[in-house]
Amino acid sequence: MCGIVGVVGSREAAPLLFDALRRLEYRGYDSAGIATLLNGHIERRRAEGKLDRLGEVLERRPLPGVTGIGHTRWATHGAPTEGNAHPHGTDRVSVVHNGIIENHAELRAELEECGQVFSTETDTETVAQLVDLNLKLGMAPREAAHACLKRLNGAYALAMIFAGQPELMIGARHGAPLAVGFGEDEMFLGSDSLALAPLTRRIAYLRDGDWAVVSRSGAEMFDAAGEPVPCEIRQSALPGGAIGKDGYRHYMEKELHEHPLVIGQTLQRMIDPATRRVVLPELPFDLRTVPRITVTACGSAFYAGMIGRWWLESEARIPVDADVASELRYREPPLAQGGLGLLISQSGETADTLAALRSLRAGGQHVLSVLNVAESTMARESDLVLDTVAGPEICVASTKAFTAQLSVLACLAIATGRARGTLTEAREEELVQALLDLPGRAAELFALQPAIRDAAAVVAEARDVLYLGRGAHFPVALEGALKLKEITYIHAEAYAAGEMKHGPIALIDRTVPVVASAPSGRLFDKTASNLQEARARGGRLLLFTDPAGAARMERVAEQLIVLPEAHAFTAPILHSIAVQMLAYEVALLKGTDVDQPRNLAKSVTVE
Ligand code: M6R
Repeated sequence: MCGIVGVVGSREAAPLLFDALRRLEYRGYDSAGIATLLNGHIERRRAEGKLDRLGEVLERRPLPGVTGIGHTRWATHGAPTEGNAHPHGTDRVSVVHNGIIENHAELRAELEECGQVFSTETDTETVAQLVDLNLKLGMAPREAAHACLKRLNGAYALAMIFAGQPELMIGARHGAPLAVGFGEDEMFLGSDSLALAPLTRRIAYLRDGDWAVVSRSGAEMFDAAGEPVPCEIRQSALPGGAIGKDGYRHYMEKELHEHPLVIGQTLQRMIDPATRRVVLPELPFDLRTVPRITVTACGSAFYAGMIGRWWLESEARIPVDADVASELRYREPPLAQGGLGLLISQSGETADTLAALRSLRAGGQHVLSVLNVAESTMARESDLVLDTVAGPEICVASTKAFTAQLSVLACLAIATGRARGTLTEAREEELVQALLDLPGRAAELFALQPAIRDAAAVVAEARDVLYLGRGAHFPVALEGALKLKEITYIHAEAYAAGEMKHGPIALIDRTVPVVASAPSGRLFDKTASNLQEARARGGRLLLFTDPAGAARMERVAEQLIVLPEAHAFTAPILHSIAVQMLAYEVALLKGTDVDQPRNLAKSVTVE
């Protein structure tokens, strides 16, 4: 994880680095630091906690210099203290790192034997100490860095500066992304093009295993063996301006209110307004003959994938396997030749999902990704990308990206059903109409705020909360529970409603609220029985349902949150928004740091 940035230029580096770190804070906010070269010497400022703390330090003790590196940390090795904050280094070299050096313990022992003195608990310091030793042995900086890279196992994106070398910065990547930015008489390194967007649009991405020698006037790139490799510069389309809260209290509140717009925009990309049919871009595989789909992702994106599986199986009658990316890769399931790997990710940089993408490809699968960041590593490595048009999502807890993913997956299920002949024209029309109704229905949800606030008051008092749902609403329950955990720190578990009686029912008493997502329809009676079972044991039932469901459960539920009537196909999307709104209201009552909850990072770039 972590965000890294570097500049070799002609203007003051610290303000540029600080601004870029603000754009990288989504990668972690345990600590931050900047180092620059001042009259040939390395100087640094670091602070524990969020970036603002570093800002205060820099105000008290400014850091001049035109060449420098910066870092925002999500702690892996070593506590999130100022002492463990990057940049790490010695008098000779300073290093920032995103990733994990897996052989750090062995390298540390070896370096200590050679007399190198460590001052942190981090894996990263082994890189700095190894380069330092190489420099002491008489190697030039680029030789010292290259010799060091050859010894590293694990994942890294690195940026290094060297004492006495104001025109030099070295960057390297292996398993973690690194972008090289080309400016006018200044050059940059950054974890992504978003960090560099206000500085330059001209970006080259290092290929895995490559490294770059960057000066003020350009960059030379090399492969792991030290052979020169071509540098392909692209034009980034990302906006350079700051993203504000537009008057909302939190980014999460703003992003929740963007649901109707984002769903509408995403559907607009996929549904032809004239024919009212789903139109996919040209596919590099044939949906009619794909034998099986393997869906994989992490966190909320995985729950979107679970709902997608439900739709693909029911509407397109295609076998679908779904597993979290961190497990899929090691489970090594037998994969049908010519099958389809379906990856879902907001950031397109999640290390587990990226690793799963690569293993699916190695297993002979076509790779289709549903992504929100078009300029991401997964986008570059996929055969085809279906974009979610959610715009930048800043709150660590995903909301609008999730419903945009669902919108894409719903369209994919329809297109797959049509291609495989399992959908009649009438059914397709009905499903498309249900999708087109969604933005309006989603906008109506904000009228539910008073009811959701009442339910939030019950949840905020609880230590544990049980979420239940059946069918496509089980992943909705998972999403609700995850959101609650992430932003309120209340323990929540989600179960398939029918599973409750097989164990979790033992937890139920007056202190454990049961939150259920259950619209009326085919599965309602079964879920209603499960909820009655909870009620009979003193459970306080908070039920998200529709008018028909509410009429049936009036006497059973303590709180009813009555969503607008919706087609069963699209109801999971509306219910997802509602459970996200509940988590937000609970977080307001608890007074937690909604947008940057403790211990989390938006983009999880370590496995
Ligand atoms: O960027 P991705 O969609 O790949 O991220 C996947 C998960 O890390 C992400 O959904 C995470 O679970 C969110 N914090 C959920 O709110």
